[in-house]
Amino acid sequence: MEIEFVAADAAVPPKTGVAQIVFEGETPNGPLAAAVAASRFTGGKGQTLDLIAPAGRDVPRLVLVGAGKRENFDALGAEHAAASAYNALKTSGLEALRVEIPGAGAVTAARAALGVRLASYRFDKYRTKEPAEKKPSIDHAQVVAEDPDAALGAFPDLAALADAVSFTRDLVSEPANVLYPAEFARRVKELESLGLEVEILGEPEMSKLGMGSLLGVGQGSVRESQLVIVRWNGASDPNAQPIAFVGKGVCFDTGGISLKPGEGMEDMKWDMGGAGAVAGLMHVLAGRKAKANVVGVLGLVENMPDANAQRPGDVVTSMSGQTIEVINTDAEGRLVLADAMWYCQDRFKPKFIVDLATLTGAIIMALGNDYAGLFSNNDELAGNLLAASAAEGELLWRMPLPEQYGKQLESMIADVKNIGGRPGGSITAALFLQKFVNGLPWAHLDIASTAWKKGSTTPTIPDGATGYGVRLLNRLVQEKYEG
Ligand code: BES
Ligand code: MN
Ligand code: ZN
Repeated sequence: MEIEFVAADAAVPPKTGVAQIVFEGETPNGPLAAAVAASRFTGGKGQTLDLIAPAGRDVPRLVLVGAGKRENFDALGAEHAAASAYNALKTSGLEALRVEIPGAGAVTAARAALGVRLASYRFDKYRTKEPAEKKPSIDHAQVVAEDPDAALGAFPDLAALADAVSFTRDLVSEPANVLYPAEFARRVKELESLGLEVEILGEPEMSKLGMGSLLGVGQGSVRESQLVIVRWNGASDPNAQPIAFVGKGVCFDTGGISLKPGEGMEDMKWDMGGAGAVAGLMHVLAGRKAKANVVGVLGLVENMPDANAQRPGDVVTSMSGQTIEVINTDAEGRLVLADAMWYCQDRFKPKFIVDLATLTGAIIMALGNDYAGLFSNNDELAGNLLAASAAEGELLWRMPLPEQYGKQLESMIADVKNIGGRPGGSITAALFLQKFVNGLPWAHLDIASTAWKKGSTTPTIPDGATGYGVRLLNRLVQEKYEG
């Protein structure tokens, strides 16, 4: 998608659909009034009214896009309105979209452009015979701004964000026969061209470090497990203490010997969404040259049943020294994170760790499909994450970490067992992770509910991989750890 910022009086190129953003209760007077009166369009958020050869304007097609009440209109509103405009016209056969927001300043115009970029994401590399009429026709967007140069100046950081979200969506969309741990690692390694430092550890290196917990999960797979360490040192002191993000990257989760039912198992290619989000975060930090030192650690494995697979009841020794009784091989994400998080704090001594993981089905039961769960041992970090969440529209809800539920994780023969039963399944999963956090501020985001979407109602998020987490974490870094 090509983006351009233009002044209101710039000529409208041919084959361009014009989207006029309308606030609630401010529907146009004049020649369009009759068309509006013949519809239910009031300017309410998300409404659209599609007009071919509109009266009083020399354009082939005009879409009125509702943006809700003027006083509630903010940067996210601009994104959503522009995204709705794109969605309304994407398969219209027109080649370009022009977005007109009354009185748009630089930031509003730039955010509108971001909305179009995010809405136009598509994973189509495996479609070889899609009918032409189903293919999006619009590949160019003009956004009207009072000061086009200022809008262009506000856009590069947002363009870097859109690139990074697309990178994450691509990773998460890839099927598991293509994106296995080594291939995931290779794609992250390619980000060195952006200035990131990327290290890849294989199974022999992880063995030497004593990562029995992570390695046990990958033991039944013919694909080698990988630990990827990505570093961005953009602070004025490149040796200053970093902040750290750790991602669950289960490239496919069959459940292992505790095999999942067949129906819906294909969804488990998304089980690397946490690692995908951390990779996307590192992408945007490098893309916009963030002034912060940040470490990303990705634990990449495939969880398969096999003659060599780990069995229920096996005991593994984690890098922390704690032994774990693996009651259920399908509770594998926490086993991966246990070693990835320990390694991260042991080596980098970060100010804090945030981990992201498609960890439990139970978080979907608790919060539905729009909110991710936030668990934290630190109110300040939790508050900063909630503020970033609100600003970016990636919803988050804080959950408790009650010490007394820790009883559910007591093993008869090892230090801890890897499941705590059905009650509070997301909470006991988080309590398990907490045992591998060595006292430092930590937050865990259970994104099983938000890493992918079916039937999306957010105009900037097409169905499929959402890229959830990239925006939220980028905002956290930008607001709290730069400058
Ligand atoms: N990857 C799954 C969690 C998941 C389930 C994500 C559904 C997205 C949709 C995770 O590894 C898992 O299998 N968790 C189990 C834990 C249980 C065995 C304690 C679960 O949620 O059922
Ligand atoms: Mn599982
Ligand atoms: Zn899993």
